[in-house]
Amino acid sequence: MRGLEGKVAMVTGAASGIGRAAAWRLGEEGCPVAAVDLNLSGAQETVAKLASGGCALQADVAYLSAMQEAVAEAERSLGAVRILVCCAGWDKVEPFVESTEATWERVIAINLKGVIASTRAVLDGMIERRDGAIVHISSDAGRVGSSGEVVYSGAKAGIIGFSKAVAREVARFGIRVNVVCPGPTDTPMLQATKEANPRLAEALVKAIPFRRLARPEEIAAAVAFFASADAAYVTGQTLSVSGGLTMA
Ligand SMILES: NC(=O)c1ccc[n+]([C@@H]2O[C@H](COP(=O)([O-])OP(=O)(O)OC[C@H]3O[C@@H](n4cnc5c(N)ncnc54)[C@H](O)[C@@H]3O)[C@@H](O)[C@H]2O)c1
Repeated sequence: MRGLEGKVAMVTGAASGIGRAAAWRLGEEGCPVAAVDLNLSGAQETVAKLASGGCALQADVAYLSAMQEAVAEAERSLGAVRILVCCAGWDKVEPFVESTEATWERVIAINLKGVIASTRAVLDGMIERRDGAIVHISSDAGRVGSSGEVVYSGAKAGIIGFSKAVAREVARFGIRVNVVCPGPTDTPMLQATKEANPRLAEALVKAIPFRRLARPEEIAAAVAFFASADAAYVTGQTLSVSGGLTMA
């Protein structure tokens, strides 16, 4: 894809699943990648297989100060962060009426506040340079709702609203913000859902017109597109990569 070679990317949630696949895809496109995750050893494994080099950083996306430190460290090691991909996420599948306030707070802190804090942390540098591409990972759950993932669906819908609004504010600085909504994707997160509720996992596959889960690299392809110069005139958009599960 055009315009990615040599651009430093920061990917949160890069120790696993979609974040790891996004890091590797951007690496194949020539981006040095700062792989950020709570799970440092997983992030280090991701970096070890990066085609274009990078660094592994441990940070909790839910805290602005932690993300500001991560950006500063990435810039010391690799240079100015030109691309941000927010993949860190967490979910607990259970009926809403059985979920606790502590779970709501954790779901919102990681999935929604994490995207807000990560975005805020890269924006000063991007505004100064008048250049940047930000890709947020939401979910089809945020577009159409998903039973058993009620607060998560709310947090993921929040990402879409936040992304559109921030895209409007920063467009004049040449910064683009777009959202990828994966459908059910074969990652450790989905594995946990399958183990907790095998019937739900089967039902999910039946509901997908392609009758299979997404592979993480299929989500990463959409991330690379939004990050690249091929999407130079695209901002504030939401793309579902979900085998036809949602069509809108
Ligand atoms: N797998 C799916 O079916 C699916 C579907 C739609 C959306 N998504 C979204 O895609 C993203 C990636 O999901 P995945 O399936 O690859 O999950 P995953 O569990 O494989 O990876 C998530 C990563 O985020 C990291 N993480 C969690 N909390 C963190 C925090 N506070 N700070 C830093 N890192 C943290 C984890 O350590 C892990 O490495 C998530 O935002 C998820 O909500 C996944």
